[in-house]
Amino acid sequence: MPVILAIESSCDETSVAICNNGKITANVIANQTIHENYGGVIPELASRVHQQNIVPVIQQALKDANVTKKELNAVAFTRGPGLLGSLLVGVSFAKSFALALDLPLISVNHMHAHILAHFIDDPKPSFPFLCLTVSGGHTQIVLVKDYFDMEIVGETLDDAAGEAFDKTAKILNLPYPGGPLIDKYAALGDPLAFKFPEPQIKDLNYSFSGLKTAILYFIRKQELENPNFIEERLADICASVQHSIVHILLNKLKKAANQYGIRQIAIAGGVSANSGLRNTLAATAEKEGWEVFIPAFQYCTDNAGMIAIAGYQKYLKQDFVGQEVSPMSRMEF
Ligand code: KG4
Ligand code: ZN
Repeated sequence: MPVILAIESSCDETSVAICNNGKITANVIANQTIHENYGGVIPELASRVHQQNIVPVIQQALKDANVTKKELNAVAFTRGPGLLGSLLVGVSFAKSFALALDLPLISVNHMHAHILAHFIDDPKPSFPFLCLTVSGGHTQIVLVKDYFDMEIVGETLDDAAGEAFDKTAKILNLPYPGGPLIDKYAALGDPLAFKFPEPQIKDLNYSFSGLKTAILYFIRKQELENPNFIEERLADICASVQHSIVHILLNKLKKAANQYGIRQIAIAGGVSANSGLRNTLAATAEKEGWEVFIPAFQYCTDNAGMIAIAGYQKYLKQDFVGQEVSPMSRMEF
């Protein structure tokens, strides 16, 4: 007790997880490959694929966890933030599923859930800790005081870190999402081959749009001299871009850690799967005396496991919502 079924459909992954008494016993993720050729997620297509995926993904999760619908105690779902059409599929399904089975509904904020993914496996951080949440839509430094008491102390003023990866990949003619591919090629290149300017922002906020523009102009200039520049130097370009993004991310994180006097540092969100970020974070931690928390790979990118664990914490507080709940593309933190 309790057994919670959780649904995540905020962007382009349809995911369903089961949390059995605080343990994740299933986490099924159906990726949508349809967006690869468009350089980004096409909302209308994402919503339609969620509709096709949701029932088989629910069935698979129940099977993996070896539970029946009758054994469920609650249904948790991502209410927002995300793409409205995508959220609508998960929220509508959660509501009808809960209504049919007479179960309470638990509303979860996707950004809280990315952070609460740290409470799925051991070791778990203790409060307060700082979490750098880096995804395709968000880049935030969050002061986490309790499960649902969190404060954003720094965030991006324009592009998210994931967007910086994905937009660079697009410039390099790599398919969407480009982050994992840049990571892969970066491993073969020289991170100091090319240098890109760092944003000059004094507080704990980020900016990545200047970097994207700098990369675009740099590539165009190089291509004038050598039309095969991208092909010939792909690994070096990827390694240098990754190095710049990671450097920018960690500089502000260090500043935040010092400002708040916190030594427990976590990372979350899709970009926390990046090996450059993971390695540099480990090295920084050693220098700074930090204790670092990185979720397992499957809980970094969008997944329902994190929605389920957030739902579990809300279940313990009996924090339920009614059938009138609706999705929110923008949602207060
Ligand atoms: O958290 P997430 O799965 O979805 C959002 O809520 O946005 O994050 C997706 C983002 C994409 O921008 C993707 O390119 C990036 O995470 N990403 C990576 C890596 N894996 C995923 N970026 C860099 N390196 C990776 N290994
Ligand atoms: Zn996400």
